[in-house]
Amino acid sequence: SYERLAALNKSHVWHPFTQMKDYNNEDPLIIERGEGVRLYDVQGRAYYDGFSSVWLNVHGHHVPELNQAISNQLELVAHSTLLGMANIPAIELAKRLVDITPHGLNKVFYSDSGATGVEIAIKMAFQYWHNKGHRHKKSFITMGHAYHGDTIGAVSVGAIPLYHDVFRPMLFQSHIIPYPYAYRHEGGAEGAKEATIRALRDLLETKADEIAALIVEPIVQGASGIIVMPDGCLREMAELCRVHDVLLIADEVATGFGRTGEMFACDLENVTPDLMVVGKGLTGGYLPVAATLATDEVYGAFYADYEEQKTFFHGHSYTGNPLGCAVALASLRLFEERNMLEGVRSKAIFTANKLATLKDRPHVGEIRQKGLMIGIELVSDKGTREPYEWGERIGVRTSQKARELGMLTRPLGNVIVFIPPLASTEAELGEMTEILAASIIQVTEG
Ligand code: LLP
Repeated sequence: SYERLAALNKSHVWHPFTQMKDYNNEDPLIIERGEGVRLYDVQGRAYYDGFSSVWLNVHGHHVPELNQAISNQLELVAHSTLLGMANIPAIELAKRLVDITPHGLNKVFYSDSGATGVEIAIKMAFQYWHNKGHRHKKSFITMGHAYHGDTIGAVSVGAIPLYHDVFRPMLFQSHIIPYPYAYRHEGGAEGAKEATIRALRDLLETKADEIAALIVEPIVQGASGIIVMPDGCLREMAELCRVHDVLLIADEVATGFGRTGEMFACDLENVTPDLMVVGKGLTGGYLPVAATLATDEVYGAFYADYEEQKTFFHGHSYTGNPLGCAVALASLRLFEERNMLEGVRSKAIFTANKLATLKDRPHVGEIRQKGLMIGIELVSDKGTREPYEWGERIGVRTSQKARELGMLTRPLGNVIVFIPPLASTEAELGEMTEILAASIIQVTEG
């Protein structure tokens, strides 16, 4: 029964990113099943999945083609290791990933979450320079308010004070350049972009010989509040890295697999990074598989006689899991069959038009969108752009209201997140945006 599950949940489950003291005072939402873009709780209530189960669902839930891919693979083998041996889905998926990612990324290193994919990229970048004999190139550049996951390496290149500051003493230090946050920069988009490029150029001109790589959330910085870069910024950053011999790591964990309207955000500005991390939507949102892609140049620095000890000594037990790789392949097949990218672009326009009615509301500061990745920043004073006080929990309250009205989402501070499954129809997007608008209006104007 619900009561039993709720009691056990309270007794034994410690939830991620959750203050348990608050959580334990509420009736927990317990999901039983999913169908299309909706999730159903154990009491039979339906909710739109308005944040794609933390930004990863692509084709909806309980998709026959994806279910079938897993059962087919299950008839063969659920798991075998990739340490020193291979399996069929891992090979086929590597080939597909190389085909669809930016030109030049030819090698695929698997892991199981966005954070592990980032750890791998960081360690590869570090050891790349080590193996090439440039042992002084060992620090990293990241961007203000960056988020790359919660393991120690990923936290070291993280820059969200609330999440990361407590761990500072146990982390390696990174250089932080400002992220171009146009809404909160006095020079607007142009000024914000210039400040970022200037900071990066200054840093590279003085310190490139001690820097291994720059890591960036391309085009959209996610966890900081869905902040979209000004046009051309990523392209210029990539160019500066190339000129100064610093590797570029693109963290496409949130932006990858059609979310922005291109397969990858890097495609929006024709950028080819040296290392690229993918996760989340890779399996359509079904199973935990991530991958770090590398160029031949990076791979080549590790390719040596055994005695030279240039091997990349890294791997996880479930690396290259056959069930996960099989469902990823099926998901990528659906991308083509269903013309997903074109769909995302037209649905993005549809959604933008729907949300435009919110622009004039007194507490809607900015609506930011790239493809079907949307953040709505609420402000206490629209004229001065004064943020709501942390204690007002405006984002939390708005998300709670949305849940009452039938849609799930999770806020990022004062930013309301709307990241629907890419497969949502216009009718579904229409209903979801109505719930979104109603909850924002009721909470901020009620
Ligand atoms: N990189 C990026 C750009 C991400 O957005 C994420 C997760 C990761 C890496 C880590 O991937 P993972 O290890 O989770 O598979 N904490 C926020 C939401 C973060 C969104 C998830 N992004 C919240 O409390 O809602």
